[in-house]
Amino acid sequence: MYRTHTCGELNAANIGQTVTLCGWVQKTRELGGMAFVDLRDRYGITQLVFDADKPELVQQVKAIGREFVIQVEGKVIERESKNSKMATGDIEIAVIRLTVLNPSEVPPFTIEDNTDGGDDLRMKYRYLDLRRSAVRKNLELRHKFAFEVRRYLDEHGFLEIETPVLVNSTPEGARDFVVPSRMNPGQFYALPQSPQTLKQLLMVSGIDRYFQIVKCFRDEDLRADRQPEFTQIDCEMSFIEQEDILEMFEGMSRHLFKALKGIDLPKLPRMTWADAMKYYGSDKPDTRFDMRFVELMDVMKGHGFGVFDSAAYIGGICAKGAATYTRKQLDQLTEFVKRPQIGAKGMVYARVEADGSVKSSVDKFYTQDVLQQLKAAMNAEPGDLILILSGDDAMKTRKQLCELRLEMGSQLGLRDKDKYSCLWVIDFPMYEWSDEEQRLMAMHHPFTSPKPEDIPLLDTDPASVRANAYDMVINGVEVGGGSIRIHDAKLQQKIFEILGFTPEQAQAKFGFLMNAFKFGAPPHGGLAYGLDRFVSLFAGLDSIRDCIAFPKNNQGRDVMLGAPGEIDQKQMDELQIKVDLKK
Ligand code: AMO
Repeated sequence: MYRTHTCGELNAANIGQTVTLCGWVQKTRELGGMAFVDLRDRYGITQLVFDADKPELVQQVKAIGREFVIQVEGKVIERESKNSKMATGDIEIAVIRLTVLNPSEVPPFTIEDNTDGGDDLRMKYRYLDLRRSAVRKNLELRHKFAFEVRRYLDEHGFLEIETPVLVNSTPEGARDFVVPSRMNPGQFYALPQSPQTLKQLLMVSGIDRYFQIVKCFRDEDLRADRQPEFTQIDCEMSFIEQEDILEMFEGMSRHLFKALKGIDLPKLPRMTWADAMKYYGSDKPDTRFDMRFVELMDVMKGHGFGVFDSAAYIGGICAKGAATYTRKQLDQLTEFVKRPQIGAKGMVYARVEADGSVKSSVDKFYTQDVLQQLKAAMNAEPGDLILILSGDDAMKTRKQLCELRLEMGSQLGLRDKDKYSCLWVIDFPMYEWSDEEQRLMAMHHPFTSPKPEDIPLLDTDPASVRANAYDMVINGVEVGGGSIRIHDAKLQQKIFEILGFTPEQAQAKFGFLMNAFKFGAPPHGGLAYGLDRFVSLFAGLDSIRDCIAFPKNNQGRDVMLGAPGEIDQKQMDELQIKVDLKK
């Protein structure tokens, strides 16, 4: 037997017992002829003490270094100077035998919560990084999260069913990762961007309630909340309406918040997509704080200030108590909105003074009377700061104002990671215009059902058709989304037409689904959560990478494995792939 206990479980109740522990050497130190070792495993750290009257053992300690794997036998004794911050802080082990199970080279960074290792180094040696409790805790949380998801869905009759990873490429959405087929030269599988069509086929099969915790693959540009391979909690239900789905998954979120965070989630508010865009400039509003947009066209237009007079949209936010902002801080905010990533031309500000008067950066164009109207429109009080953006494209300007709002929220400490604000965003548009493709694209995916009352608009004004689609948003993060699906082959055919597919193209790409719909497809719908994103929110992480054991970096590389990498010429030949890198 290698060990009798772990390094995280011994306490005062074990005093007097003889125990055997195994683990990694976190650190060693000597003091007046004695030696101490902090021994670490997944469960914690236990202090080992080597008495001065056992010089051969103290000598052995001198020969071991950080990250050696050792086994010790010893007696649990009471510590003289107790450490209340450690679970094992009341005791230490008086060692009587030490065995080195495996030596270690000096690790490239310290395996401690505050490590000296930079990001690249930690990713290269991710297996060492994962020894750090801060990172390991995230994996433990992820495990518990997935476990509670399974518990809830199982209790509600969902079956976990695996779908294939080698599938076919489907247009729309992100780029596919493809896999060449040796047995079918010149042909490729694609890795699933999601099991969307397969779960719909499972509904045709009568599975009724499906879920899967499943890897999805998307070849898209990476950000803090995006990885090329990520995990979805993918769900689908039959004989349901939108309301049933929202209820079921609101219930799941409530279960997860209670089980993992001890939080009683209130009933989730619902916001239409149109309102989310109007008041927050985003389909994933961070509702931990208010600072809603106020449209100011009526108040600010037509007073001789050219920028506003020619604008298609003027909108403002009111930052409570921020009238103390200095000129320098305001200049920095202006620079912030003018960065190319945001792209605003400038920013107008107005302070409400203690006496109620308003002082703005465009005072020469506006009388105090108009500025008082501004104050009233913004619901501003003495001490508040009003920030205004304008532009010739309302949607673009709202998105810029969204960035400014989030920045102000951060600066004013309103985006507390321990506070959660969860909502449904509903009634998404069916389509969005793509400048790149010069056509309407499905906003969610082409299988999403239009709202029944909007179906007539498909022929006259498809861009205004709303979908039975919904997202769950927490703290400004889209954690999940889904829709009620089309289950009628003819309507599906029509949607493909609007998306620009000829009947032949639609048949070639989606024939399998449309044919299945001819054999008794039940009304159905579902959604998928981003597991990585949900867990990151619960763990208070800035990037989903930190809750993934072996993530990719921003270039989509696994620097530890050296992936992607070249393959042998033999493999290339077998696959009949020719690569001419010179081109
Ligand atoms: P969607 O594309 O909205 O819907 O994806 C569902 C959820 O998956 C997460 N997500 C990601 N997480 C990390 N990295 C990524 N690159 C990434 N892309 C998406 C998000 C998102 O809300 N089949 C539909 C679902 C359905 O209609 O049932 C789908 O995939 O949290």
